[in-house]
Amino acid sequence: MTLFDIIFTGSEQALEACKSVLEQTIKEYGENEKVSFPNTAYSLPTIYAATGQKINTLADLKGAIGVIESLIVKEQNLEKALNAGLATAVAAEVIEACKYVGGKNPYEEPCVGFIPDTVIRSLGVPLVTGDIPGVAVVIGEAPTAEDAAKVIKDYQSKGILVTLVGKIIDQAIESKVKMGLEFRVVPLGYDVTSVTHIVSFAIRAALIFGNIKPGDLPELLKYTKERVPAFVNALGPLSELVVSAGAGAIALGFPVITDQDVQEVPMNLIVQKDYDKLVQTSLEARGIKIKITEIPIPVGFAPAFEGERVRKDEMFAEFGGGRTTAWELVRKRDLSEVEDHKIEVIGPDIDTLGPDGGKLPLAIIVDVAGKNMEEDFEPVMERRIHYFVNYIEGVMHIGQRDIAWVRISKSAYEAGFRLKHIGEVLYAKMLDEFGNIADKVQVTIITDKEQVEKLLNEVARPKYEARDARLAGLTDESVDTFYSCLLCQSFAPAHVCIVTPERLGLCGAVSWLDAKATYELNPTGPCQPIVKGECLDEVKGSWESINKRVAEQSHGATTKVNIYTIMEDPMTSCGCFECICGIMPEANGVIIVNREYHGMTPLGMTFGELASTTGGGVQTPGFMGHGRQFITSKKFLYADGGLKRVVWMPKELKEALKDKLIERGKEMGIENFYDMIADEEVGTDPDSVVEFLTKVGHPALSMDPMF
Ligand code: SF4
Ligand code: NI
Ligand code: NI
Repeated sequence: MTLFDIIFTGSEQALEACKSVLEQTIKEYGENEKVSFPNTAYSLPTIYAATGQKINTLADLKGAIGVIESLIVKEQNLEKALNAGLATAVAAEVIEACKYVGGKNPYEEPCVGFIPDTVIRSLGVPLVTGDIPGVAVVIGEAPTAEDAAKVIKDYQSKGILVTLVGKIIDQAIESKVKMGLEFRVVPLGYDVTSVTHIVSFAIRAALIFGNIKPGDLPELLKYTKERVPAFVNALGPLSELVVSAGAGAIALGFPVITDQDVQEVPMNLIVQKDYDKLVQTSLEARGIKIKITEIPIPVGFAPAFEGERVRKDEMFAEFGGGRTTAWELVRKRDLSEVEDHKIEVIGPDIDTLGPDGGKLPLAIIVDVAGKNMEEDFEPVMERRIHYFVNYIEGVMHIGQRDIAWVRISKSAYEAGFRLKHIGEVLYAKMLDEFGNIADKVQVTIITDKEQVEKLLNEVARPKYEARDARLAGLTDESVDTFYSCLLCQSFAPAHVCIVTPERLGLCGAVSWLDAKATYELNPTGPCQPIVKGECLDEVKGSWESINKRVAEQSHGATTKVNIYTIMEDPMTSCGCFECICGIMPEANGVIIVNREYHGMTPLGMTFGELASTTGGGVQTPGFMGHGRQFITSKKFLYADGGLKRVVWMPKELKEALKDKLIERGKEMGIENFYDMIADEEVGTDPDSVVEFLTKVGHPALSMDPMF
C-alpha cells in the first residue's frame, strides 16, 4: 500500500465508525436530541470552522456525514490525501460529540476531553510571549514508560504544552509525571478520536484570535499553519486511522514525527527512532527555538513548575505568609554600587533549621545597575521575582512586596537546594530578561530577624510608598507618550492595544510602565511609543497620533479608536482579555464579566459567547474587552458616564475589586456604590437585576440614555 492508500483506508474507517456511532446515538436519543461540547461558543468547532454551520441536533450531525464523504477522494496526490486527513478530523469530532450527548460527562480524571474556550483564551498571552513556545501532541505509546517520561519531561522543561492521547497517558501516570494544565501536561483521552480536542483548540485559536470567518477553510488552514506552533509525535505501531489523523494534522500545518518506519514526506512526516533526538527533531520540524539559561542549581528550573504547590507535609522551610516577615525589593543603584553576580546570604541558611526544617524571616534584595536602568523599571522587574522563584522545582512563591510567601520542599532541600540558589536564579533571569536594562545585578538574601525588620522599615517600605505615589500621580494627562502593544498580533493580526497610564492592556499583563520597559529593552519590539500630540476629543479619548498608529499597525483594518468610550470606535480586542464589558439596555448601563465566571449573564450570554463576538481585532461598539484593573480607572467608560454605568458583575470579580470600588464610589459621591452593583446572587435575568437596581437606587437608571 502507498502512504496515500493507508490514509484513504484510515479515513474510510473513520467515516464508517462515525456513521455507526451516530446511528447508535440517534437510536438511543432520537434525532432531535441536542448535541454540543461544554463551555464553547463555537458549536462543534471543526465542523463550524470548516463549513460555517453550527450543529445543534443529532439530525444536523447527519448532514456532516456528507462533508466527510466529500473530503475523501481517492486520487494519488498529496492534496487529496490531506483532505482525507481532514475528513478523519471531522469524523473524530462527530464521534467525540456523540460521547457528550444527553448531558454526559464522558471524561474522567486525569483526562480532560474537550477544552473550554476560556482555557484557550487564558493561553493567549503565554503563547504570544513565547512563554509557551509550542504545543506537542503525543499520540500512542513509547517503548517504555521511562522513554515516555523522558520525552514528556523534556518538553515540559522547555515550556512546551504537551497533550497526550492513548496509552502514553498510562505511561505518564506510571512514571509519576505531574499532570494538569498548570504543569503543561494535558492528557486528552485514550481513544484516537480524542485528538480532535487539540485540533479544535487550534481551530478555535483561529476563530478567537484570528477573526477567521467560519467556512473559510483555506484561510483557516493558513492561520493554523502560520500561527499555531503545534506538532505531533505519533509513537508506537501506527494504525491506518492514526496515519490518516496525522494527515489531518499535516493539513493544518503541523508536522508529524514518528518512531515507526513510514514513507517520509519531507518537512511534514519525519521518522526519528532515537528517543534522545525525538524532541530536538520535533522542535526543528516546527521551527521552534528554545531559549535556555543554564542556572547552577541542584533542582529543575522551568515555567512548567510555576503551578506547583508545596503543601505543609512536603514543606521543609517557610518564609512569610503571615508567619514571619518576608519581603522583596528590586532597587536601581549606581554602577559603582553593584558587584556583578555577587550573591550574599546574611543570617542562618535553611540547613541550620534541624532535620524537620522550620520558619525564617526573609528579605530578598536585587540591586540592578545599568546605563538604561530607571526607577520606573523597578516594579516591573520586581514582579518577575514571583515567576522566577516559582519556576524552581520544589519552591513555591506567592504574593509580592512585604506580603511575599515562600516555601521550599523537603525534596528540594535534600537535593541540596539552599538560599544562595534563589540568588543564582534571580541573577541569571534578571540578566536574561532585562539584558538591555541591567548591566550588573547583585542579590542579597537576609534571614537575620533584626536586619529583615530594620531594612523593611528603613528601605523597603519607603520605596513601596514612593512607588505608589508615583503610580497614583501617573495619569494620561501627566505623560506625553502612550504605547501601542502588538504582542498579540502573532495571533490576532489586526489587533492593536493602546496602553496608557490609566488604561492597561486588555490582557491585564501590560501596564504603561511595562510597555515603557518593554520598549526600552527592545526598541524595535512589540511596544512602541506614541507621542500624544494634539488631542481631538478629550472626553472620548481621541488622538490623531493614536488613529495614525492604529491604522498603520492594523494594516488599515481599523482607522479610528476612541480610548475612553465603548459606544463609538472602541478599542479592538484580540481575545485574551480578562473581562468583557457589554451594554445592558434594560438597565441603561453595562455589565462586566470576567473570564473565570462560567455562568450566565443578564445579557443572556456567557463570557464565552460574549467573547466570541468581541475578539479577533474587530471593533464592536457596545462591547469591549479589557483588563480587570481598568474597571476602577477614572478613564473607564469616561465618555459614557464612567463606573456609575456598571450595574452587574460576577461576585468574585466584585470581591476582588471591593476596596477600589468603594473608594471610587466615594469619589463619585456615592457612599455605597459597591452594594449597588448586582451579581449572580441577585440574578442573571434582566428583570431581577432591574428590580434590584431600582430598589437600591442605582445611578445608571437615572443617567442620560446610553443610545
Ligand atoms: Fe496583547 Fe494587548 Fe496584552 Fe499586548 S497589551 S499582550 S497586545 S492584550
Ligand atoms: Ni515552583
Ligand atoms: Ni491578546
